[in-house]
Amino acid sequence: MGYRETYKAAQDDPEGFWMQAAGAIDWVKKPSKALDDSTAPMYQWYSDGVMNTCYNALDRHIEAGHGDRVAIIHDSPMTRSSHEITYTELRDRVASLAGALRAKGVEKGDRVIIYMPMVPEALEAMLACARIGAVHSVVFGGFAAAELATRIDDAKPKAIIAASCGLEPGRVIHYKPLIDEAIEIAASKPAFCVIFQREQEVAEMTARDVDWHAFQYGVEPAACVPVKGSDPLYVLYTSGTTGQPKGVVRPNGGHAVALHWTMKNIYNVEAGDVFWAASDVGWVVGHSYICYGPLLAGATTIVFEGKPVGTPDAGTFWRVIEEHKVVSFFTAPTAFRAIKRVDPEGEFVKKYDLSSLKALYLAGERADSDTIIWAQDQLGVPVIDHWWQTETGYSIAAIPMGLEALPVKLGSPGVPMPGFEVHALGDDGHPVKAGEMGAIAIKLPLPPGTLSGLWQAEDRYKSAYLEAFPGYYETGDAGIIDEDGYLYIMARTDDVINVAGHRLSTGAMEEVLSSHPDVAECAVIGVADALKGQLPLGFLCLTAGVERSERDVVAECVKLVRAKIGPVAAFKLACVVERLPKTRSGKVLRGTMAKIADGLAWKMPATIDDPIILDEITVYLRKMGYAGDL
Ligand code: COA
Ligand code: AMP
Repeated sequence: MGYRETYKAAQDDPEGFWMQAAGAIDWVKKPSKALDDSTAPMYQWYSDGVMNTCYNALDRHIEAGHGDRVAIIHDSPMTRSSHEITYTELRDRVASLAGALRAKGVEKGDRVIIYMPMVPEALEAMLACARIGAVHSVVFGGFAAAELATRIDDAKPKAIIAASCGLEPGRVIHYKPLIDEAIEIAASKPAFCVIFQREQEVAEMTARDVDWHAFQYGVEPAACVPVKGSDPLYVLYTSGTTGQPKGVVRPNGGHAVALHWTMKNIYNVEAGDVFWAASDVGWVVGHSYICYGPLLAGATTIVFEGKPVGTPDAGTFWRVIEEHKVVSFFTAPTAFRAIKRVDPEGEFVKKYDLSSLKALYLAGERADSDTIIWAQDQLGVPVIDHWWQTETGYSIAAIPMGLEALPVKLGSPGVPMPGFEVHALGDDGHPVKAGEMGAIAIKLPLPPGTLSGLWQAEDRYKSAYLEAFPGYYETGDAGIIDEDGYLYIMARTDDVINVAGHRLSTGAMEEVLSSHPDVAECAVIGVADALKGQLPLGFLCLTAGVERSERDVVAECVKLVRAKIGPVAAFKLACVVERLPKTRSGKVLRGTMAKIADGLAWKMPATIDDPIILDEITVYLRKMGYAGDL
């Protein structure tokens, strides 16, 4: 069946389509039906099925005779090392860790926070939780202690699993002090922390900490614990409009079925193929396509610890593809922009044999045509932009290469995947005409594998996603659907920005800036950046009577955001203004500010290494009459 027939089959008979897809997963008790709408609009998939995700990702491949197949390749230019772990080795390590967690009281349904860099142990920790039915919540290593504390207070984990450190070019990230500080700040205290000591830094242990290896010693390995299809596998926090992140809940059954389906049908990956997603386990792409997707499909996944450029050069990606014979490669457009910037003629690309590669997949942010064309020219394979969100867990729109290599349209992340009925809606809630801009919304119910709600926040889930357009899930993206059904995702409709493929909340940054004693009022907007897609830009109104230099206040604010949210916020641009443009009712006109800032984008430095005051913007905004009528 081609794309159109498959999409239609899922529309005409969703029950039949998803029950058939569920056949690719091993169930302890097969579900009697796919969709459970008894608590609509809180839909559940495979709610009476019983299974275990870790069993499907590991044990069943071993039982089928593939235990010697490589499950993980850890390639770390940061430590100049590379090693392989087979399915049997991985299962044994995971079962041992799971047994040790259970021996310390972690049970089905308990939450476990994982704060780790790109090492195989991060995947082992995730799978160990899955094995005993515990709910993991991975927090990206670039977030600061206060952000980690917010997640601890929301998830209330019984344990935290962490590494002693992460490695960024030129510096060691000391994870342990960050974790200790986060636990200090948080009201909810985990019972214990498991610390994986890395060679690069041995962390000091407290009474609450246990050593990764020592606490597994002599403990009985854990078998897979059966869970219901609708039981949560993980909670992954993502940025919303406020400083309080949204805990996206991913249930086990639908996740396994949908991800397994995507591996062949979207990425054209077979068991035994090498699949590489150059992302981080802290993001949804890392959950779905560094950890679960490739393993569910019996493929080999690469855990890459490095950067596209500078570790050691702009040929890193191509070296990894050649060395490990990568078939399917997935990353964010920013990574390609970074490479193109230092190697515009593709001199490094030419040095490597990339004949194993069948396609490149891009997601996480809007892919600009220049980058796509450059990648097509350099790699000589289809370059597939596809669109998705933490909430959906996999792509809403794509070119499903395993199903049918539909034509690629530049600027479009493709066509809706089966089960996603996507519409561009006008303000009246009705679909706009083909080619017209609208709010992109998905008809309920969402297909299996998508979120079942927000962690212990049903009302927030309903108000954030379901209320604006009754009967639909509001994606928060605005865009166009053309006459061939291709989507074009243009911008967010909320205060979320996308920096280097990382989703960030301007509201969260504003909350931090407002806490500075000299800041009376502030606004943060996203401005265009040639490398990272967008960068946050802060506007600060100082408290009356502040005599200090604006430069000092700005520098302190930049430091504050880094300390409270983390380096990942990439908040380095801010300026002081007399007042913010507002509507009569007092709402800050962020759109107006973004337009002004965009007009000045050419004046922005290409790379920003130091906190700077954007004098031009300050002058311009003042000239525009911020003290006058707006
Ligand atoms: N732990 C601690 N700090 C981290 C971190 C981590 N896991 N990841 C990033 N940071 C830090 C960086 O060191 C940087 O710090 P700096 O301000 O001192 O330079 C800051 O957070 C911003 O990171 P980032 O925006 O990623 O910039 P970068 O210069 O480190 O890298 C790219 C830029 C383009 C190379 C990188 O973002 C990239 O490869 N992105 C594409 C892949 C991807 O991760 N996509 C995610 C969704 S698919
Ligand atoms: P995240 O939840 O971090 O994956 O971020 C999801 C958001 O990133 C989406 O809502 C979009 O705004 C943006 N995004 C992701 N992929 C694409 C894409 N292919 N094209 C345009 N925007 C994208």
